[in-house]
Amino acid sequence: MHLPAHELPIEARYKLLTGTIIPRPVAVISTISPNGVLNVAPFSYFSIVGHAPMALSFAVAGPKPDGTWKDTLRNAQLPTEGGTGEFVVNIATEYYAKQMARTATPLAADISEFDFAGLTPAASAVVRPPRIGEASVSFECRTLHVVEVGRSRLVVGEVVYLYVDDALVDNRFRVDFSQLRAIGRMAGSRYARTTDTFVIEDEKFFPGTR
Ligand SMILES: Cc1cc2nc3c(=O)[nH]c(=O)nc-3n(C[C@H](O)[C@H](O)[C@H](O)COP(=O)(O)O)c2cc1C
Repeated sequence: MHLPAHELPIEARYKLLTGTIIPRPVAVISTISPNGVLNVAPFSYFSIVGHAPMALSFAVAGPKPDGTWKDTLRNAQLPTEGGTGEFVVNIATEYYAKQMARTATPLAADISEFDFAGLTPAASAVVRPPRIGEASVSFECRTLHVVEVGRSRLVVGEVVYLYVDDALVDNRFRVDFSQLRAIGRMAGSRYARTTDTFVIEDEKFFPGTR
């Protein structure tokens, strides 16, 4: 079928995007509100922006039916917009997949998903929001930009500090994905593991990728 995007109902657009752009890595994002309430939520509209500086992005779809934006955006946006300008990206893994999914439950802004989902806040080194103690990789970020894209907001943050479990990385910073056990989101409540991988040997496929 050939489908002009603007003629599709919203639900079909969502299903076609999330059913085909798979698997999507999941950023479990911890933030803190300006008055100190901790927040955690998963985001699979998530990617690397660059490595000089190290920068990550995630997109918040919205606003919610009541007209307000998700707490993660409200907390992570720049202080000039009422946020703290900080967030932590924790990489979702099999080890805390169920707790990760529970953090997507909409809760009142004054209730912390750390308590609700049974996750442990661990002090970050540089930013105020804590990282997730159960996560083996966490990127502490400062917000650089919030870009308006129709009814979504793309948040771009610079990584200012990293926590990586020592057991995952060798002395050349190569990460053992088989121990990381990162998960990806498929459509709906289905997830993918990252243990079924293969290698393409031909070096000429990778000229100047860095
Ligand atoms: C695995 C997973 C990935 C998600 N990815 C996104 C996303 O990329 N963008 C988004 O707006 N919502 C996404 N959601 C929904 C939010 O996590 C959900 O709306 C959450 O309640 C927002 O929490 P907050 O208000 O505390 O920020 C995702 C949910 C799950 C379970």
